[in-house]
Amino acid sequence: MPSFTDHSLSADGDILTVTMNDGTRLRFHAIWLRDNAQDETTRAPGNGQRLITLQDIPEGCHITSVEHPAAHTLRLHFAPEGKSLDYDADWLSRHAYDRQVTSEPGWIGDGISRWDSSLQQSIPTVDWSSACQKGSALRDWLAGVARYGFGTITGMPKDSGTLCDAAELFGYVRETNYGRFFEVRTEVNPVNLAYTGLGLQAHTDNPYRDPVPTLQLLSCLENTVDGGESIVVDGFRAIEILKAEMPEGFDVLSRYPARFAYEGSSGVALHSKKPMIELGPDGELVGFRFNNRSSAPIVDVPFDLMETYYKAYRLLGDIIERPEMEVSFKMNAGEMFIVDNTRVLHARTAFSSHGTRWLQGCYADKDGLLSTLASLSSQMPEAAE
Ligand code: FE2
Repeated sequence: MPSFTDHSLSADGDILTVTMNDGTRLRFHAIWLRDNAQDETTRAPGNGQRLITLQDIPEGCHITSVEHPAAHTLRLHFAPEGKSLDYDADWLSRHAYDRQVTSEPGWIGDGISRWDSSLQQSIPTVDWSSACQKGSALRDWLAGVARYGFGTITGMPKDSGTLCDAAELFGYVRETNYGRFFEVRTEVNPVNLAYTGLGLQAHTDNPYRDPVPTLQLLSCLENTVDGGESIVVDGFRAIEILKAEMPEGFDVLSRYPARFAYEGSSGVALHSKKPMIELGPDGELVGFRFNNRSSAPIVDVPFDLMETYYKAYRLLGDIIERPEMEVSFKMNAGEMFIVDNTRVLHARTAFSSHGTRWLQGCYADKDGLLSTLASLSSQMPEAAE
């Protein structure tokens, strides 16, 4: 259990330095400490929401003195408010920000494991009836989907629309111009190439939306065609390889926006201006958009970098198609898969016109999935992943 063994205050009272019982030395700013006080006048005891704005804390906030009433508690006196507030060692050590940060563009958080074709043997999978109990089986499957960006459900009822029930196990369906869910079956005059027997290059869905749907679910109601295998590829792994093989390619694809568009149905004109490789403000890799069918003319790359951009785009496509990157499987009736549509690409091989291939797709979002996962994990803290 963390406790404080020493503390000191800067001469102006702007910075508190604490030493923890494990020897860690941490610095905190007075304004940060005051803003993050946990007392009931700062945070609502029930829902934890902050009750004050920053403007309620006077400018020039500083610490005038420090008491140490218990091993794990420091009591700080703030001026000019004249307020005394207690800080817990465990809470402070869990929220410490005085550390070396990784700033290498494209860094990936610990919660994400990259994979290649070797995931074939350990795909996160759950049986429908177990998932519906909303207990540890669902929790473990959601944890796998969060970590790998991919998972499957088996043993589903072969009824139209059941995939929406699957989305509602952890969140909400994202309705789009394709409807609450959409049919993926061969058509004579398709409004989208997905509805033909052609093979589809690995892609993320709907990059022309802003925000993009962050999860896609695809279920199988019938599949008796030859071919039509599903393939998934970890886009984050592909980006890592691109960065190693062509650093300037990673740089140009992450620094400049691409354009995506879809105008395939009447009354619909969707356009977005987003990079293929999306980094957060601290350089974290947060998203991937890759879709040849909905790529619009790229007009935001400087003239002198356009050749590099296209070279990188081609190499990235080549990396994605390397056999060692692919997990491939044939969907059977009563099965579905889910992908993190900001990370994992999906593809399918061409299929014959004999037999029937009837799939249904829908979109949902990761915030609901991660919220349900966090909630189930706190109810059942023995979570194994
Ligand atoms: Fe797709």
